[in-house]
Formats: sequence, C-alpha cells, structure tokens
Amino acid sequence: MNPPPYILAIETSCDETAAAVVTGGGRVLSNVVASQVKDHEAFGGVVPEIASRRHVELIEPVVKSALAQAGVTLSDIGAVAVTQGPGLVGALLVGISYAKALAYGLGVPVCGVNHLEGHLAAAKIEHELTYPHVGMVVSGGHTSLYRVDDEDTIELVGQTQDDAAGEAFDKVAKLLHLGYPGGVVIERIAKGVDPGAFELPRPMISDASFDFSFSGLKTAVLHLVQKEGIFDSADLGFSGLPEPRKTAPGKESLIPLIAAAFQAAVVDVLATKATRAVKAFGMDTLVVSGGVASNTALREELRARCADEGVRLVIPSRAYCTDNAAMIGVAGLHHLARGRTAGLDMNALSRWDIAASRR
Ligand code: KG4
Ligand code: ZN
Repeated sequence: MNPPPYILAIETSCDETAAAVVTGGGRVLSNVVASQVKDHEAFGGVVPEIASRRHVELIEPVVKSALAQAGVTLSDIGAVAVTQGPGLVGALLVGISYAKALAYGLGVPVCGVNHLEGHLAAAKIEHELTYPHVGMVVSGGHTSLYRVDDEDTIELVGQTQDDAAGEAFDKVAKLLHLGYPGGVVIERIAKGVDPGAFELPRPMISDASFDFSFSGLKTAVLHLVQKEGIFDSADLGFSGLPEPRKTAPGKESLIPLIAAAFQAAVVDVLATKATRAVKAFGMDTLVVSGGVASNTALREELRARCADEGVRLVIPSRAYCTDNAAMIGVAGLHHLARGRTAGLDMNALSRWDIAASRR
C-alpha cells in the first residue's frame, strides 16, 4: 500500500499536546507542541486530570496550527496517526478520540502508534537510520534498551527496575527545591560545575544485565543532603507540593555541586550500559532518544564514548527527543504503508510493550 501524501500525527500521552504533519516520504512539514508545564508546575509533577482537561482545550488549536504551518488543509490529509499508549489513559483518550473522529469524518485510515516506538523512530527524521542497532529510550516514564533488528523486530533487552532516569531527575530536583521540570533545571544549575565534588553511587553499572536502577541513587542524594545539613529536615522529601527553598546558612553553594554529581552518575550509568549493549550484540550503531536524551552532559558523554569505541551515535535534535507528534507520524508511516490501521474501537493502553504492538 502506498503511504498517503500527508499524514496528520497527534500525541497526547502525558503533558504535551502535540500535532505534526508528515509527508508520505517521512519529511516533517510541521511539529507543534503545546507544553502544559505551567499548569503542573505548582504541583511539582503532572496531575493526570489537569493534563486531560488541558488536552481537550488545546488539541483543536494545536492541530489547526500544525496544518497551517505545513501549508495544508484537512482535505489534504490522507491518514491520521495517534499515540495509543503507553501513557496516562485520560490524556491518551483525548488524542485518540479526536484522531478517530477526524479520520471518520475525512474518510481516511487511522493508525495507533506506540509512544516508545515513536521515540525510537524520531531518529529517522534527520538521519539515515541503519539496522540492526541498539536503541535506548530515556524519558520520564521509561529507561529501556532495545535490540532493533529491523523496523518490525524490536526486542526489549533491559529496563529500569524502579524509577526512570527522567523521574529521578524530577525527584532529585524536587528534593533540592529546584523547581519543575527537573531535568532542565538540574542541567542548568550543573552547567560548568565540577561533578567530582561528591561521590555518588552508579547503581547496577557493573551488573551483567542491561537493566537499570535509579531509586538508590535518588536515596543517596537524600542522605547526602541530610548529612550536609542543607535543609531543615521538615523540608526534605521527593513528594508533596513544591516549597520555596530555605537553605541553611552557607549551604546554598553545595546545591549545584550535588546536582552535578547526580547528573554525572546518571550519565555514567546510561552511557556505560548503552555502549556495552552495542558491543555485546556485535552492532555498530546506537540510537538514543526520549526527554533525557536532550541533556547536554549525556549527549557529550555518549558522543565521546561512541567515538572512542567506533560506534555510530544517532541522537535526534532536542525538539525530537522530548515528546512530540512528528515522531508519531514517522513511526505511523511505517505501519500505514503495511496496511496496519486501527478500527474505531481503538482504545488507550496505559502499558504497551513495543513487541506486542507489532500486529
Ligand atoms: O520523553 P519525555 O518528554 O516525556 C516522557 O515520555 O516521559 O521526557 C520527559 C522527561 C522528564 O522527566 C524530564 O525531567 C526529562 O525528560 N528531561 C530531561 C531534560 N529535559 C527533559 N532530563 C535531563 N536533562 C534534560 N535537559
Ligand atoms: Zn515520551
């Protein structure tokens, strides 16, 4: 089946309302993302009910803007691709219902796309992707390593046993009273700071598996903060509403040092496991994507290690690493070209393994 000339893609799995127009050849004509950061900031994390409500408000203007930026109208759209899961069910349902209604109204096919497959497919947008390769998705919800033999043979070979890397960034940022979202603020405060002032553990780094664990590292940061007496103990924790920062006298300067040490530990574990997987599978290409892959320290470390080991590294530019709809469009294209469309009974899936999404 020839892919339709223009595909409208929609992504609403978490707190970004996103739409994109992609050509049948995989060229991205527009990629619009409405971030809900401001709506969730006061709560220090994504509130699912608020996310769903904002998606309802934003989806129409975001789709209109994606069409306008691409210079096309609805009558040019030959298929709709939408994130079906994994993600927040209420949030996913907004995109799915909108996509199904639109496809039905236009008389075009609709295709459900796995969000993680979308993150991996983001690497195709700006690069010639070769197979086989190792793919690593590092986001707020996932830290997973995949053996990607071809577009239809994607095997999960390792994943986090507890917190995702992005979740650890968010929780440590909360602990350090740095605000939300955590990854961006930690990266900012750690920039140019010596990461060696404090020694933090690298959980599971020497482990033979390709699994990860970040919860112990997060707790190690808590213990360090306690030991250094940076905050009053009443202000310590990974959850609860964000409080203004009240550091003990003379302790403010330790916060960037701890942030830098934490970031370095996460980067070390991710870079070590990913490059080790490439070698273990006898491959020569590593694809890294997801929100945490927009982190400069991680990008630089991966670049250095891959150069040393003769591994080709493919990381999408930042806008395609964090949640977006263009990645859903390019992943959807592959399925649409094979006639894998969904019925109007398509439902949201809060959990969805990539391998199980191959129909
Ligand atoms: O892929 P993404 O946009 O959404 C999910 O699918 O989860 O990833 C969001 C996650 C958040 O945990 C956020 O803190 C993290 O990615 N993140 C970063 C950076 N930008 C976003 N982590 C580290 N450094 C960054 N620059
Ligand atoms: Zn994501």
